[in-house]
Amino acid sequence: MDKLRITGGQQLNGTIEIGGAKNAALPLMTASVLTAEPVLFNNVPDLMDVKSLIDLLNDMGANITRDGSNLTIDNKSMTSTKASYDLVRKMRASVLVLGPLLARFGTAEVSLPGGCAIGTRPVDMHISALEQMGAKIEIKDGYIYATAPENGLNGAEIVFSQKSVGATENLLMAASLANGHTILHNAAREPEVTDLAELLIKMGAKITGLGTDNLEITGVSELSGAEHAVIPDRIETGTYMIATAMTGGRVVLKNARLDLLDALLPVLKMAGVDIEQIENGDIIVERAGNGLNSVDITTKPYPGFPTDLQAQLMAMLTVANGAGIVDETIFENRFMHVPELIRMGADITVKGSSALVRGVEQLKGAEVMATDLRASVSLILAGLVAEGTTVVNRIYHLDRGYENLEQKLGACGAKLERIKT
Ligand code: UD1
Repeated sequence: MDKLRITGGQQLNGTIEIGGAKNAALPLMTASVLTAEPVLFNNVPDLMDVKSLIDLLNDMGANITRDGSNLTIDNKSMTSTKASYDLVRKMRASVLVLGPLLARFGTAEVSLPGGCAIGTRPVDMHISALEQMGAKIEIKDGYIYATAPENGLNGAEIVFSQKSVGATENLLMAASLANGHTILHNAAREPEVTDLAELLIKMGAKITGLGTDNLEITGVSELSGAEHAVIPDRIETGTYMIATAMTGGRVVLKNARLDLLDALLPVLKMAGVDIEQIENGDIIVERAGNGLNSVDITTKPYPGFPTDLQAQLMAMLTVANGAGIVDETIFENRFMHVPELIRMGADITVKGSSALVRGVEQLKGAEVMATDLRASVSLILAGLVAEGTTVVNRIYHLDRGYENLEQKLGACGAKLERIKT
């Protein structure tokens, strides 16, 4: 398993190009299952999770071609409606094939998902909502066996008990090809959900309420092919903003969207970071001189502070002046980076879902273990400012969601080296 060796102490100065969003690309790709016509995607990031989904769709009979960041998926001759354990276990988002398969083929057999170990992360809301649309679902031997009524899924009024990005996406896709009208109450409002709805509309779906927590869908009998560019990755953008905040320096972010980071910007501003969008759309992140101020954050569904930036922000607080509190309200087990940060000299006390982080003068390099995608990047950020050398083990988590991280940070002056083992 590859490791990453980081020599801390370098400021970041330079330019970083932001890629397409992983969390948008995956649902968009599964939406291609809804049509027999090819769907062309632009700005698709080159990530392990994207490769895993390509493998899964290929296994079901898709015809996929990739040319740089363009990806064409043709599901005309999709032969199988089974998503097997070997392919699904690598990535939780694979469960997003459930709604499209059921809607187009009337049947689906999908392994229960794996993915990051950040809590139990059930899929009960996906299942119960599809049942409300008339699907018969049985869980047996680790698989979800689902069948639609003979004439297809039926529109329904669905009230989600909590906000779920994946359940909203699965249901949006299923309802687009269902009979009649569906309303999704308490739907997730993440930009990636809106991106999916925009692709579905291009494919011929009838959806209103985009960007709100009430989505209304009138099913159509067929969807067509389309072309769609994946939105920029707001989590990658936020990660590099936090990295620059920690090291100091000046970094220009290209192809990013500031409007998707409304919750992070005031937090970084309070911490003492300057962020500005200039005329050509580039975003400039700068932290000159003085150190960082501590801030408190609480993770919330969009437009609140994203749980996917919690670990990175916590890494920042470990070297800020004073104490900050991090409350994690989305996942019950998302502090696995804490013991690793403590190994590097951080002062963090966890009580339930709340962490008190007291800034220290200097982190110290250490050998640490990546436990999930965002936790691994938080350790790299800590390594950038730690004294000496940090080795992050199990870097495969990172490859699931960050494209060319070593090259991007390296081009800005960071010292990172991948050790192949
Ligand atoms: C997506 C993102 C992930 C992000 C998360 C929250 C993708 C591919 N992944 O994951 O990076 O951290 O949103 O912003 O887009 N839940 C249930 N039952 C369900 C479904 C969810 O209890 O059937 C719970 C989860 O355990 C969690 C909460 O709801 O506590 C939110 O999860 P959800 O929004 O569904 O996350 P994902 O879609 O899996």
